[in-house]
Amino acid sequence: MDSFRRLKGTEDIFADEAKRFGEIEARVRAVFRRYGFFEIRTPFLEEKRLFTHALGTGTDVVQKEMYEFLDKSDEYVALRPEGTAGVVRAFIENNFHKTQGSAKLFYLGPMFRRERPQKGRLRQFHQIGAEVIGVDHPYADAEVIAALCQILTELGAGGYKVKLNNLGTFQEREGYRKELQQYFEPHIAKLCEDCKNRYYANKLFRILDCKNEHCRNIVMGVPQMSKHLSDESQQHYARVKDALAVMGIAYIEDRYMVRGLDYYTKTVFEIAHPKLGAQDALAAGGRYDKLVESLGGPSLGAVGFAIGLERLLLCLDAPKADPAVREDHVTLVSLSDEAFKKSFETLGLLRREGIAAEMDLQGKSFKSQMRTADKMKSAYVLILGEDELKKNVFSLKNMRTGEQEEIAAGSVVQEIKKRMTSC
Ligand code: HAM
Repeated sequence: MDSFRRLKGTEDIFADEAKRFGEIEARVRAVFRRYGFFEIRTPFLEEKRLFTHALGTGTDVVQKEMYEFLDKSDEYVALRPEGTAGVVRAFIENNFHKTQGSAKLFYLGPMFRRERPQKGRLRQFHQIGAEVIGVDHPYADAEVIAALCQILTELGAGGYKVKLNNLGTFQEREGYRKELQQYFEPHIAKLCEDCKNRYYANKLFRILDCKNEHCRNIVMGVPQMSKHLSDESQQHYARVKDALAVMGIAYIEDRYMVRGLDYYTKTVFEIAHPKLGAQDALAAGGRYDKLVESLGGPSLGAVGFAIGLERLLLCLDAPKADPAVREDHVTLVSLSDEAFKKSFETLGLLRREGIAAEMDLQGKSFKSQMRTADKMKSAYVLILGEDELKKNVFSLKNMRTGEQEEIAAGSVVQEIKKRMTSC
């Protein structure tokens, strides 16, 4: 017989894990609402060229990690490796710039990268992301970082560090790139194999955040980027730092921090968490002032971030154990065919009235039905046998105390609600 297994780097999310995902999403939505962000859901599948154009043809994500294929209508499509490109496409395509000028958008959902799977690195993973499009002001960078920190703090992922850097504009970076090239040239032989390749592929900025010890020693001596930065870029960055100070957000400046996506300009940031390995960031983001225009929209500044949800789970404390009894749960137990039908009717009634209820649909014995009630951790069991049917009542058993009493069939809902609110 054929058997099937999930693909490497993908996960089935169920039971407690699915519950945690749901809880995190609900809390994240609440924070975003407070910060004035609206949800957007963009397709998982987009034209491939959207990503090559937005993220950069030379990036690892585009060159090595994208799931891309020619679909049956001979169009190159790709599973989204990140959320920003799709959100910006949607902003332009839906004319947000004409109807509202700017937008504060958030998203939650799966992203796809064909990376080597390991702890905290998956091929299908989830991001919690936000984008502020159409606002140039440095305080927007700080607002986005504040929302990110608020989410992490409220979810219980404290102990993180905010790392900050200024990458300047594309033009400013070009000047620095030339200087880096000259600097690294005499050191090529001592660089790790990856960095040698980076050097020859002109990906000089990626050498700056290499974790290899030899590379790090060489990188320590690189010239500062600041002399390539315009007054405007420097002032923008200074005001971001001011705004962070005003909001009491601590940060560390890291002049070696670069990003793996090409669209960033000026401010970039990363969240490092001690519970993750040295390699992996919990969240990252920055400003991308040229992306909207380069994707066919007007010239608008933008800034955003994305948190990796699976990495976030690694940073959170173990969830509290479920309570021994579910106060809001009832199991119905029936002892004859006629009782079964009546119980089924009552099951629907309870659920419509907002009470969580369950009953056996497999014709199990009384004992087995009671065992299920235990397993479900029901606070109450509603028993319907011949006697109860005759008297037009239900026997209601309180599973915590073991006490049993009769309640009129016509007032089941009220009686149960009364007990649930009084406990
Ligand atoms: P990124 O740095 O590529 O940025 O990814 C953001 C976060 O997604 C990472 O810090 C990490 O937590 C998570 N992540 C990335 N790859 C994986 C993976 N293979 N497995 C598990 N988690 C992963 C972006 O994606 C940008 N779009 C962020 C952004 C939004 N910049 C501006 N706006």
